[in-house]
Amino acid sequence: MNTHDPSRREFVQHASTLLAGAALAGLPARAAPAPATPGGRMALGDLRVARMGFGAMRITGAGIWGEPADAASARALLRRALELGVDFIDTADSYGPAVSERLIAEALHPYPAGLVIATKGGLVRPGPDQWAQDARPERLRAACEASLKRLKLERIDLYQLHSPDANVPYADSVGELARLQQAGKIRHIGVSNVDVAQLAQARAIVEVVSVQNRYNVATRQSDPVLEACEQHGIAFIPWGPLAQRQRAAEQPDPRVAALRAIAGERGITESQATLAWLLARSQAMLPIPGTSRIVHLEENVAAAAIRLSDAEMTRVG
Ligand SMILES: NC(=O)c1ccc[n+]([C@@H]2O[C@H](COP(=O)([O-])OP(=O)(O)OC[C@H]3O[C@@H](n4cnc5c(N)ncnc54)[C@H](OP(=O)(O)O)[C@@H]3O)[C@@H](O)[C@H]2O)c1
Repeated sequence: MNTHDPSRREFVQHASTLLAGAALAGLPARAAPAPATPGGRMALGDLRVARMGFGAMRITGAGIWGEPADAASARALLRRALELGVDFIDTADSYGPAVSERLIAEALHPYPAGLVIATKGGLVRPGPDQWAQDARPERLRAACEASLKRLKLERIDLYQLHSPDANVPYADSVGELARLQQAGKIRHIGVSNVDVAQLAQARAIVEVVSVQNRYNVATRQSDPVLEACEQHGIAFIPWGPLAQRQRAAEQPDPRVAALRAIAGERGITESQATLAWLLARSQAMLPIPGTSRIVHLEENVAAAAIRLSDAEMTRVG
């Protein structure tokens, strides 16, 4: 791995400076493209995407509930993601609910070739910040049909089972996704919030191309799942990739401290160091940092160009 790549470092710093200048001047930040592609591309079944996606959960109202304060800004954020080279957007029917998917269609339809929109079904929303499992086959079928309509798609490129449902045999939920795939409504199937045994159970029923689990520098309970993904050529999509900041504020973590020191030495932000760490952690990793702010989107996407060295990875541990 490249330890001190001055050209990349200068590129990231230059991009950040230009973008900060544009923001200060109140100008639209268009001057400094920071493409998602320097992180490389990876396979999702027969699709290929840049290894820096976008999580569209944060474009709704507070508590991932209802409309955002400024829907026009949310649509501009989505369009900016594409300008920056992002071609993988993660959403779910439960974000809003329905709001995130609808905004994606409003902002981006008709979709450019190569854009992969991944959505999910299996959770319902009793209210703000409240999530409940419902992965009954009939409910998944209705959720998938509704997502197709909202997203204005005939087939969803990646449909993820948001979570196992404690009240429904996992095989029944996964089996329904297999039927939806056979009916041509889903191209590829992913799972989320699973352990190694659940992943194996799903793989015995259908081809699984992605797993989406909580993972960041300070939250690594899914390491065995990540290993299974590497072994079977499955993309691992870490949710909450930046969440260690909040946790470390409550409980100091030496791994986060090491990452912060590296960020300081390199003149990059902690978020960028975190995303670069994820990219270096595994070739299976497909980060989807979520934000409601263009300035953070640009900062996060620029992290695709940052390579942490083996020594830096060892320091983080
Ligand atoms: N499968 C699941 O069960 C599941 C669960 C949760 C999330 N997800 C998916 O994973 C995606 C990412 O997870 P997440 O949104 O929970 O967590 P995240 O990406 O780790 O963090 C998002 C938070 O960090 C802030 N942030 C983003 N970029 C920043 C930056 N450069 N500097 C400072 N703060 C920054 C955001 O605030 P601002 O808006 O102010 O930038 C937001 O509060 C979601 O969008 C969603 O698509 C999936």
